[in-house]
Amino acid sequence: MANIKFPEGFYWGGATAANQFEGAWNVDGRGPSVDDHFLGGSYKEPRQITIDIDPDRFYPNHDGIDFYHHYEEDIALFAEMGFNMFRMSISWSRIFPNGDDAEPNEAGLAFYDRVFDCLRAHNIEPLVTLSHYEMPYHLVEKYNGWASRELIGFFEKYCQTVFDRYQDKVKFWLTFNEINCGTQDMGNLFGTSMIQGFEGPASAVHTTSQARMQALHHQFVASGRVVRYAHEHYPQFKMGNMDCFILSYAATCDPADVFATQQEMNTMNWYCSDVQVRGKYPFYAKRFWAENDVELVMEDGDLQDIADGKVDFYTFSYYMSGTVGTHKDHEMTEGNMTFGGKNPYLESTDWGWQIDPLGLRIALNEIYARYEIPLMVVENGMGAYDEVEEDGSIHDPYRIAYLQSHVKAMGEAIADGVDLIAYTWWGPIDLVSAGTGEMRKRYGFIHVDKYDDGTGTYERRRKDSFFAYQKIIKSNGTEGLA
Ligand code: BG6
Repeated sequence: MANIKFPEGFYWGGATAANQFEGAWNVDGRGPSVDDHFLGGSYKEPRQITIDIDPDRFYPNHDGIDFYHHYEEDIALFAEMGFNMFRMSISWSRIFPNGDDAEPNEAGLAFYDRVFDCLRAHNIEPLVTLSHYEMPYHLVEKYNGWASRELIGFFEKYCQTVFDRYQDKVKFWLTFNEINCGTQDMGNLFGTSMIQGFEGPASAVHTTSQARMQALHHQFVASGRVVRYAHEHYPQFKMGNMDCFILSYAATCDPADVFATQQEMNTMNWYCSDVQVRGKYPFYAKRFWAENDVELVMEDGDLQDIADGKVDFYTFSYYMSGTVGTHKDHEMTEGNMTFGGKNPYLESTDWGWQIDPLGLRIALNEIYARYEIPLMVVENGMGAYDEVEEDGSIHDPYRIAYLQSHVKAMGEAIADGVDLIAYTWWGPIDLVSAGTGEMRKRYGFIHVDKYDDGTGTYERRRKDSFFAYQKIIKSNGTEGLA
């Protein structure tokens, strides 16, 4: 470890998403969001999507971990760990219950006032995702999600409403969570929500490249317009993108594998951020569209909206890396919203995600070399089974080791010269898994007494990792890394 030193004022914190932890899905005027139609699954069993909500079945996102009624306690625990940043999302359907309503829901707006005020009282800077894998379900039923161009206007109205309302409370904003998962079938399910009339296992949702690229185009235009609005009206705002960065290694040094890896990096990791950071479609897009039968429908002004909406900083999630290979014996493994090739040099989590801290340093160097704007790691963590001991303690050395190794990797990247300004661990408090809908896939430093059959008291408990992260934060990354 050479010269690890995090800059003064580095942001340390945690990241969450409204639909995975707020609960209170039908309280105070909130409308159902797309995730409220997903049942729980597991590592092996995909989540089921239902068109109607069946009162006799358990939908894990409905209650989440009830942050809605525990936010003061939870934020106090984050402050105790030393957080100076908290990433959260606003539930679109709490503000506009149907998405196309004429007026916002005041009770929903008031809830986030309370949350932001509580964060401020603890000197925690909010980092707010405008759309984290959800939209009002009505927009799915009526418009088929981002397949429709009309979503652009609804999203603009929603964003302008929250910008105007929280202009003095929030400075850092992200438009779409992991927007690049919209290039994949599975991620596409969450991000672009093109599941009009669909019922059945999430794994059976399939869309064409044409549909995915068109939906992403709508999101790029929407993102461009709201970033421009923010810059024009609120110069104090800082606007960011958010990508799921899955570093890909060539499975062998066969040039065919290296080339396939480059292609995979372009379509999965760079396509969306090239648009949102550079304000234009990348040079390789035309050939990619042509080879995948994509003909984008654009309107006059779309490219200008994209050009005007360049983000101020780049953010990403990093959990794992994968390999890309063209040979028959190339083995696959599980991953974040996608499948990747197996890497014999890496260990995996119980859910098959390959643990690769050095990959984070590589990713940070690659991203910074490409864009040279400030970076934030806004999700990183490991889902694991935790055991509560008889005395109530929870020993999670695996999570501590994951944390320490990834913090070290970030420190090394900063020493390499990367302008990294923030780190928010995914799920600092246990919450519902997006991919599987499970509670037992736990990420938290704080345990929540909530289980997959819906039982539990919601009691919060500090795990060993709570104190490990606290130590790292207190020393600004110089201690607690062993
Ligand atoms: C990211 C998402 O893909 O990974 C989060 O932004 C998600 O919403 C996280 O929860 C971890 O994935 P999972 O499926 O383990 O919850």
